[in-house]
Amino acid sequence: MDTHQTSQRKKDHIDLAFLSQTLERDERFYYEPFLVPHPKQDSIPKTSFANKSLALPLWISSMTGGTELAGKINKNLAMACAEFGMGLGLGSCRIILKDKSYFNDFNVRPFMGDQPLFANLGIAQIEEMLEAGQVPAIKELVNSLQADGLIVHVNPLQEWLQPEGDHIRFAPIDTIKRLLDVLDCKIIVKEVGQGFGPRSFVELFKLPIEAIEFAAHGGTNFATLELYRQEEETKKQLDPLTHIGHAATEMLDFANKAIDELGPEALCKNIIISGGIQTYLDGYYLLKKAKTNAIYAQASAFLKHATGEYAELQAYCELQRKGLQTCYQYLQIKD
Ligand SMILES: Cc1cc2nc3c(=O)[nH]c(=O)nc-3n(C[C@H](O)[C@H](O)[C@H](O)COP(=O)(O)O)c2cc1C
Repeated sequence: MDTHQTSQRKKDHIDLAFLSQTLERDERFYYEPFLVPHPKQDSIPKTSFANKSLALPLWISSMTGGTELAGKINKNLAMACAEFGMGLGLGSCRIILKDKSYFNDFNVRPFMGDQPLFANLGIAQIEEMLEAGQVPAIKELVNSLQADGLIVHVNPLQEWLQPEGDHIRFAPIDTIKRLLDVLDCKIIVKEVGQGFGPRSFVELFKLPIEAIEFAAHGGTNFATLELYRQEEETKKQLDPLTHIGHAATEMLDFANKAIDELGPEALCKNIIISGGIQTYLDGYYLLKKAKTNAIYAQASAFLKHATGEYAELQAYCELQRKGLQTCYQYLQIKD
């Protein structure tokens, strides 16, 4: 840095000091600046997930497909996964089962190298396909997308509040068990933004599934989203339902308790902590508290940066990595 730059920087400090008074402190961490140098490139340990390795412990939660913008968004997200070493869950691929012309919206393997990629279907669709003996079509979907497996989203509240919503006829846990018996591929299960309670966790951990994704309450809320599509009076009367559910912190406690309780009976070994995760500090805090292999995920936070040029998403991801490098180098959680 030359003397002109140094002088300008000193002037900035004087101008900005009054703007920079600390208002809030994040009390979740011990910060230890004396004990380590600045982070190196490899300060974030690799995480294994779905027999692959992630350079960042970060997953992009299932989102879109089947609209004009979706292809571009999915391509951007896939490129970010390749560059930053993350994993991607596709949005519901149901539309491709009906109309192959949408295939390219979802066909992102060519852009994302060997990073973990999962296809996605809803529980109502799985019920229907199991009943109709269409398991080969599910397998074909996963194979054609060169995906590592299938995410099953379980979204009863969304379907219930959606005028054109599907009716779920069986307990989702039983449908997932039936699917595991007949589909030979890795399966992840998730909610879509309401989360779920302790009893669901216990039953899910007993299954030989690849991972459980929280999709907790506190971020994008599909029950709310569906009500926005309806009459004012319907929205008003059904709105209380949108407030039920579980936040990611509460869900992690349920998950940790279930793991302790089940011991070797817990066959599922991975969790994806997601739903309302605002920053890498939240993600890091929850990862460090998890009692099993964990990564964290965001949906809408990535979406905000994925609709335009790739450079915008790339800049967002670079900042996430820088934030996480800081966490791994300097922060320990307090409890
Ligand atoms: C635009 C959009 C579309 C979504 N579509 C799906 C979907 O097709 N399948 C699914 O499992 N989840 C879907 N989700 C839910 C997300 O995967 C995630 O669980 C939820 O948004 C909570 O994460 P967030 O708070 O980080 O946004 C969608 C979310 C968004 C924002």
